[in-house]
Order: sequence, then C-alpha cells, then structure tokens
Amino acid sequence: MAVKKETIETLLEESRIFHPDEQFTRQANVKNRDIYAEARANPRIFWAMQAERLDWYRKWDQVLDWEPPFAKWFVNGKLNACYNCVDRHLNTWRKNKAAIIFEGEPGDSRILTYWDLWREVTQFANVLRMLGVRKGDRVAIYLPMIAEAAIAMLACARIGAPHSVVFGGFSAEALRDRINDAGAKLLITADGGWRRGKIVPLKRNADAALTECPSVDKVLVVKRTGQEVPMQDGRDYWYDNLVVGVTVGGPCEEMDSEDMLFILYTSGTTGKPKGVVHTTGGYLTGVSTTHHMVFDIKDRDVYWCTADVGWVTGHSYVVYGPLANGATTVIYEGAPDFPEFDRFWAIIERYGVNVFYTAPTAIRAFMKWGEEWPARRDLSSLRLLGTVGEPINPEAWIWYHKHIGSERCPIVDTWWQTETGMIMISALPGIISTKPGSASVPLPGVEIDVVDKEGNSVMLGKGGFLVIKEPWPAMLRTIYGDNERYVREYWGKIPGHTLYFSGDGARRDYHNYFWILGRVDDVINVAGHRLSTMEIESALVDHPWVAESAAIGKAHDLKGQAISVFVTLKGKYFKELKDGSKTRAEFTSELKAHVVKKIGAIARPDDIFLTAELPKTRSGKIMRRLLRDIAEGRALGDTTTLADPAVCRELKEKYESKE
Ligand code: WT7
Repeated sequence: MAVKKETIETLLEESRIFHPDEQFTRQANVKNRDIYAEARANPRIFWAMQAERLDWYRKWDQVLDWEPPFAKWFVNGKLNACYNCVDRHLNTWRKNKAAIIFEGEPGDSRILTYWDLWREVTQFANVLRMLGVRKGDRVAIYLPMIAEAAIAMLACARIGAPHSVVFGGFSAEALRDRINDAGAKLLITADGGWRRGKIVPLKRNADAALTECPSVDKVLVVKRTGQEVPMQDGRDYWYDNLVVGVTVGGPCEEMDSEDMLFILYTSGTTGKPKGVVHTTGGYLTGVSTTHHMVFDIKDRDVYWCTADVGWVTGHSYVVYGPLANGATTVIYEGAPDFPEFDRFWAIIERYGVNVFYTAPTAIRAFMKWGEEWPARRDLSSLRLLGTVGEPINPEAWIWYHKHIGSERCPIVDTWWQTETGMIMISALPGIISTKPGSASVPLPGVEIDVVDKEGNSVMLGKGGFLVIKEPWPAMLRTIYGDNERYVREYWGKIPGHTLYFSGDGARRDYHNYFWILGRVDDVINVAGHRLSTMEIESALVDHPWVAESAAIGKAHDLKGQAISVFVTLKGKYFKELKDGSKTRAEFTSELKAHVVKKIGAIARPDDIFLTAELPKTRSGKIMRRLLRDIAEGRALGDTTTLADPAVCRELKEKYESKE
C-alpha cells in the first residue's frame, strides 16, 4: 500500500483555479457556503432535513443508529423507492414531463413522461408478481442500456424485490457467479443489445450462465434486437407476451428504511467480487440530495449521465437520483463512436442536454478523435459538466472545459465508489472554485480525511490513505452474506475500526483540496471500470496451460490503466513455446480469450508476457510492484527482498527486447 511519488509531484504542479461565475451562483441550488458549517455542526439534523426531500409512509424514530461499523439510517421509517421516483410526481405538473429520453444505437428514440413511466413500471411490477416474485426475493437484471433497464429496476423496487444488475459486458460465467451469490430467483434479460452495429448476445450468455444457476426458475426476456433466440419451455417468457392485458397501476410495497434496495457486485482485492448491499431510505436520501446539489438540477433541465446501469453511477445518477428529483434523464444504448465520432454531441444537440456527466477515459478518447467532432454540433444548451471514475488529468479537464463547455460551464469532478452509493467529494458548482485534476472538497455532511497506516491525519501536502470518518446515509451496509468481509475490508485495515478505508490514496493541498492518487490496493481501474488483479489471475490459472500469473495495472493514455499480465506456463507447454511447436501469439491470444470468457471483454489483458519465472520474495510473494516498474519501463525499485534478484533483471531485459 504505497502512494506513487511521481503522481504526487505532477499534481502539485497544477495550480490553475476556476471560480464560479456570478451568474451561475445566483441561480444555483446551493448559493451559501454556510451549508458546510451547518452540516458539520449537526450532521444528523442535516441529513434528516435532506430526508424530507422524500415521501415517507412513516417518518423515522431515530436518524442514525451507529454501532460501528454497522449503520441504520432513518430507523423505522417506511417508504418505497419506486413511489418516490415515479408515483409521487403524478400529483404534480411533472405528470406530463419527460422522465426518460431513450435513444437506441440504431437511432430509434422514445420519450416517456412520468405518466408513461408509471404505466410501464406498474405493469412490469405486475408481471413480476405474476411470475411469483415476492418481497425479499432477489432478481438479477442483465439488460442493455434501454429504458426497460430502468423500468425493471423500478418495478423490483416497487414490489420490494432487491435487484442485482449485472453489466451487459460481463461474460456468462461472471453472470453465473453473481446470480448464484445473490441466490436470484428470476433473471430479466433481453434477446440482445446494440453495440457498434453488432448484437451483444445477452440471451445466449444468459442461457450459458443458467445451466449452473439452481436458484433461477424463470427468465423474463425483453425484445430489443429481434433476432431468433432459443426459449426454454416453462422457464423463459417474452415480456411482450406476458404484459398483454396486465393491469396498469397497483400498490407499492411499504418498505423499511433499512430494507435492501439492491446488491451490486464490484471487484475487491480477492478473486471473488463483493456484493455491495444498499438499502432504501438512506440511499435514496443520499442520491437525491447529491444529485440536486452537485448537478444543480432544475426542472427545465435535460440531464445526461452516460454511465451504464450495470455500474453504480447508472444506479445512482441515471435512475434513482434523477428520478427521485423528478428530472429528465437520458438513456443511450450504444457506443460513443457509432456511427461516427460525434454521436454524443449529436445526442446533446438533439435533446438540448443541459447537464452532462461522463468519465475521464471517454474524454481522453474524444480528445484523440479531435475537436472537430464536437465543433460541428450545437452544444450551447450545456450549462454544467461532470466527471467520475478515475482522476482526470489536467489536460483532459482543460479540453473538456474548452471544447465541450465553451469555457462557460463549470466542471464537477466527483469522487465516490460503489460502496459510498453517492458522491462524496465534489465541488458545488455555485460556490466552490475548481482546480483541474482535483475533486475539490467533501460535500456537506461528509467527513473525509487523509491518514497514515495508523489512522493519524497526515499533514497538508502529504500523501496518505483516503478514509471516511463519519457514517453517511448512502453507505453500503454490508457485503451480501458476508459481514466479516465487510468489517475486514473496509473497517479493519486501519486500527480502531471506525475509519472507512476507501482503497484510494490521496493528498490534500494547502487549500484543503483533495487530489485522488488512485488505488493503493490490488484493484486496478481500467477505463473507469474496477477490476481486481486477483480476479484476472484466478481466471488465468484456471486455464490448463497456466502455472502462475501476475496481473498489474500499467499506465495507459486512454484507459488510465491497462491490464498487463505475466504468465508462467506449465512445463510441457513451456517446452512447446521453447521448441516453437506453438508460437507466443498462439499462447497469448488463447489466454486473452480465456480471460474474456471468465470475466468479460472489459478484462481482456492488453498484453500477456510469457516468462520462465516471476520475481518473488523469500516468502514466495510475487512482487507486483517490480512487475509494474518493468511494464512501465522504469528503473527497478528496491529488489533487496527478492529471493533471486537475477530473475527480475533478466525479466526486465527480455520484456524490453520483447523476446
Ligand atoms: C473507484 C471506485 C463511483 C463511480 C464510478 C466508479 C476511482 C472514482 C473518481 C474521481 C479519482 C475516482 C477511485 C475509487 N474514482 N471517481 N472523481 N477521481 N478517482 O465506481 O467502480 O466503485 O470505483 O474509482 O479509485 O475508489 P467504482
């Protein structure tokens, strides 16, 4: 767990500062800096006031019950997330307001008003009930980015069935593991989805997964691409067939504030993904508050967060936050470069998007494609921009500011995680100045620090571990089925068990601004997606040829980090490599394909290096730090703890000569 020194130094050089524009401040949802002091003086009252944004069937008896590290927010409060995102808007003028603007990759488009959304969600919920789904049953969702993904999530919330959305880019095996861990009873999928003009074969993957998912007895299939897919009698049902004649309307389950709203799997430091559990009252309070404050959302805004609902950003800032706030949220199915590099800008122009939220990796791709693509579209509707997923390099920030925001739109760089559920560090655009590359300051009601490994605050300017000091409403409650792992991974790494350990390194500058330095654990961030090196390594050693493997994140211009792996082959196969009966390329392409099969295309290694030996400590631990030095072409760091320093030197030479 070490913070890279050169990153700190690069960031220290960044000194540009952008102040909020007066006109923006005048109209901002948060205009007054007193909010920080007020929230700090009494965080429970602050969050209770925010919870009043929601409609409750019954108010809470106690704001927070905190027995570290287990929290209960809004104790005994009763509410329903779907009611808050849909039904309650029908009693207002928003009934006829666009809730979801959907655009498919082929160019088809659909606009659902809140009334339309209510009709669709209630019918979907009634179909789920018809299929036997009851309060507390887990439902897996494996869908493309279509309106039905949001509808299915809300339908689950309506009937009190926690959903577990699995990103459509995950493989059959990854889907299978997530379904089994959650014990899902039903799977909602689609025939396929569109991506760069091709069909992502979701149903086919689902079928492969389901051969080993005993808990699933029914599959609900949404028709999207229309190609022929096998349907298993008595198990698979077309949604379009079941919905015919199904009642519109019907009740929402009255849920306890602490009832589980969803499980979302994310990579941890071991090979097994963690099922992050989020509950209802605190989560919805957190996402609705932060969506309102950070995105300065107004009723006339069209808001677009480009994340897939398979990630937490899609849960919190495509679906729950915006809809709880009665906003208009855009859902786009496909790739940003299809059919041309200006697809995103065409969408902004077509719907008059005002607030746009995307990832640094996407911005770096836009930079590469060239500013002529945004320049040929009218982006004058934009008034606020956001980023999330990884530290944004100052050049990308400036490009975004200039070529997308016309030097007029504030940029909010938002730091948070699957586990935090909501944005934790971000500028409030009306009152906080921004510095390219810094996520700025923690939100009101959020207490964050940078500490050393004993848990002591480090001095300003110094690097350390990013920790959260006080519970927050949208915090994860546990890891599904594994309280021990929850305690160990997040609360047990720093003495005292009262600091939440984020896994990130950070540094605070002399203005108290936070600079996130990236992960300090075995998690890597590839194009804003979180992967664990262990997960990739276990996928590799699962292959019969592989003896041992070490995966690392290697700096990459577009993706932030790329996956680089070092593999030792079993004797027999190593001989085949040496005597030339199989080429290096044959080995590596087979192994890459194997990782894709085990995890999904997002985990495809950029390069695989076959080697006779890996550098190990005397106790047999692979030294990934040295492998990173090799892959990134640096001088080798400290090699004194190695069992055999020659292994490492030799590996470096071979790697550099691509032998
Ligand atoms: C990790 C969480 C939460 C949304 C998407 C990712 C990195 C996220 C930032 C940012 C620097 C960031 C951190 C964090 N990260 N946002 N604005 N600046 N780093 O969610 O998959 O749970 O990953 O993403 O390393 O720990 P996630």
